[in-house]
Order: sequence, then structure tokens, then C-alpha cells
Amino acid sequence: MGKVYVTRELPAGGLDCLAEHQVDVNPEDRPLSREELMAKVKEYDAVISLLSDKIDAEIIHAAAGKVKIFANYAVGYDNIDITAAAKVGIWVTNTPGVLTEATADIAWALLLAASRHVVAADKFTRAGKFKGWHPTLFLGGDFWGATLGIVGAGRIGQATARRAKGFGMKVIYYNRSPRPEFESQEGARRADLKSLLATSDYVSLHLPLTPDTRGLLDAKHLELLKPTAVLVNTSRGPVVDEACLASMLARGRLAAAGFDVYAEEPRIHPNLLALDNVVLLPHIGSASRQTRLKMAEMAAANVREVLAGREPFNPVKGI
Ligand code: DGY
Repeated sequence: MGKVYVTRELPAGGLDCLAEHQVDVNPEDRPLSREELMAKVKEYDAVISLLSDKIDAEIIHAAAGKVKIFANYAVGYDNIDITAAAKVGIWVTNTPGVLTEATADIAWALLLAASRHVVAADKFTRAGKFKGWHPTLFLGGDFWGATLGIVGAGRIGQATARRAKGFGMKVIYYNRSPRPEFESQEGARRADLKSLLATSDYVSLHLPLTPDTRGLLDAKHLELLKPTAVLVNTSRGPVVDEACLASMLARGRLAAAGFDVYAEEPRIHPNLLALDNVVLLPHIGSASRQTRLKMAEMAAANVREVLAGREPFNPVKGI
């Protein structure tokens, strides 16, 4: 029997496959402090972690020789120093695939809500300001015939693009390597980042956070966007310069934006909070009941495998 620590309560039933192990769950509805995490990794054989748990080299060092696996409850694993983990022989796993469709849905929720001012219009209506049909009230942009630019054509980027078919859109994408199947199945065309930004009516970010993508969407790139464009980010906050975007939105240099992720979660850049033409969500891309359950089952299955002396199903490789 192994000892498994879960840093936050997960959907009921998700950890059933660990029944033969001792599974302890953080009883508090808050993230563990660094000191608490440091203590847990000295005591447990496996940890199911969240993307908000910063598992850096120091934590890995403390875990070495005890923890066999950090099973991250997310597809992104930029919160974990995978190189440090690889060096001391700790597995790191993630939850790829199961959250693709839910996250693509939230990208679309943001695209539609931002472009058609859904949140601002709702506030307006509730405030009793709706005095009858008006020819120019909350004008937004069309989707039909417009161009969607997908930045990062991995699973989620491709799933977001797939939905564009129903909206009658053209799709272009930026990705380090070409995606020939995506091109032939979805009619997507590969573009360099600059021309994608300059020609898209809608831009959806789907980049993993790596040293190469951190700050990739900087002022120099963002200034290429059309003034009528809408940009949404459901990937990781630090890939885009939030302050620059906030300034562009405030000046009317960009029509609208939508965020599910932020550079310093849970802090939201104050300049974004002040704007009406931005929709702000609390990192809920994967938050469907079905998806969150599957993510828990996947993380648990990875732990079960490692505690049984086998390789996990979804290892991420440390360089
Ligand atoms: C992930 O899995 O990386 C998502 O951001 C969680 O919703």
C-alpha cells in the first residue's frame, strides 16, 4: 500500500482506482502553502498536484527519494520543474486529451461573448437600461466569412478550429511544425505569426507555456492586430503581454478580448478589470463535470501504475 497526497479535493469518484492505497486529501478549500507542500512531499509516495501548486527544484529536491510521481491534474505542467524531477527519477504526468473539447468550448464562449458584448449587455439589461430596440446598441463583429487565427495548433487549438466550420469561417494557424492532417481535414492554412495576427478577425491562443512561448505575444506582435480584431486566451497567461492588451483595449485599438488565464493567477491585471470590452473568466477552461472527473481518473490511473512499479500512461518528459 502506498501513500498518496491530493493537494485539493477533486470530483467525487475520480480517485476510486486508488482504493487499495492510503489517499489523503487537503481538507481545506484552499491551496497548500509552500511549507505545507514541502512537508507533504517528504511524507508521501505520490502527489496529485494542481496547476496552481508550484513544484520547483527546491520542492523536487525535498521530494527526492520519497515521492515517485507528481500526477498533475491539468494538461499543462509549467508549474513543475520537469528537468529537476527527471534528474531525481520522479515521474511527472499530465491529463492530455480529456479536456480538449471542454477547453475549445470555453474558447468559443469567450470569442462569442467578447465579440458580441454578451457580458456588458447582460449588465446593461439588469441595470434597467434597456429602453427598447436600438439600431446601434452593442454592435459587434460577424463570424460568418471572418478569419480565425489559431496560435498553437495542438489538440485544443485544432478542436477550437473545428468549431469554426459551423460558423462559416476561414482558419489560419501558427505552429512550429506543419499540421498536414489539420490542413486537409479542416482546410486550415499555416501562416507565420506576424501575418496571422495582421490578417485574422479573431485570434485564439493555444500555446503551452515554455521558455520559447513566454511573452511571445509582446507589444511588437500585438500592434499587428486589426483594430476590429478580438483576441482570446485559454492557454497560459504569461504568453501574452496583458498590460499592452489592456492599453490597446482602452484606446479602442483592439475591439475586444477574452481571458480565461492570467500572468499571475489569481491576480487580474487592474487595467483589465476596469474595461467593459473584455470578458474575464476564472480559469474554467476544463470545468465541465464530465471533463474534471476524467482528469481525476487519469491522474489517479497514473499514480496507480507508478505505485505498482509500472510506467505511467501519460508521462511528460524532462529534458
Ligand atoms: C490545464 O489542464 O492545463 C488547464 O489549464 C486546466 O483547466
